[in-house]
Amino acid sequence: PLYNSMFGLSELEERIKSYFGLSQVIVVPGDSENSMQAKRELGKAAGQVLREALKPTDVVAVTGGTTIAQVANQLATSTALKSVRFVPARGGLGESHDYQANTIASTMAKRTGGQYRLLHVPDHLGEEAFASLMQEPNIQELVEVIRSARIVVHGIGDAMVMARRRKLEQAMVDEIAEEGALAEAFGYYFDRSGAVVHKMQTIGLRLDDIVKTEVVIAVAGGKDKGEAIAAVMRFGHNDVLVTDEAAALEIADLI
Ligand code: G3H
Repeated sequence: PLYNSMFGLSELEERIKSYFGLSQVIVVPGDSENSMQAKRELGKAAGQVLREALKPTDVVAVTGGTTIAQVANQLATSTALKSVRFVPARGGLGESHDYQANTIASTMAKRTGGQYRLLHVPDHLGEEAFASLMQEPNIQELVEVIRSARIVVHGIGDAMVMARRRKLEQAMVDEIAEEGALAEAFGYYFDRSGAVVHKMQTIGLRLDDIVKTEVVIAVAGGKDKGEAIAAVMRFGHNDVLVTDEAAALEIADLI
């Protein structure tokens, strides 16, 4: 690799930040893929970023996954933020309970003294189920709240890992692999250049919401996610990236 441990983490942060035009990059030591300690540090660093960004009456939309679950678990409990609302970015029944966006939103609210709303719909839906659920006034109202989020905190996954975890049909997995899908984030699959190659039929945040969101915070680490993280950064609508050394070294090699 062009980059190695001789380079300090702050140089890595600076290089990634300026290359992708981000407002902040944080690189924690280690590889969160293999080390729980590194994953906790990743969560803690992201929790601090989130705390600093929070303003009264904010709506914060969060995605699921093991990484964002760590952000919730590591979030400091100090000052109460009673008027902040935490919501899941999308429907997410299907993931195991601890890693569902609903669970993460409620944990964050409890730890910060804020409020939360839950969206009880499956992760991906057929056309008919989608259309009929979207007729529900309760769901419509909550989707409006979600889409008004000023802050989004999301994970990034390897496309094939996520396609399997989300139990996509094999034909669809083959199709998106052929289209060059490398990364998955908030229900969208991205190729190397950051172009969207597939989207899941899901209720909640949409791509045009992400584009307009004031503060988009990505939290993802591990050597194997380097390429996926770079792909989502090329999509170009993140403000903050919180990652680890192992992923950052991979990203630095790609840019
Ligand atoms: O969209 C990506 C996934 O939420 C990432 O999940 O943090 O468990 O790897 P993970």
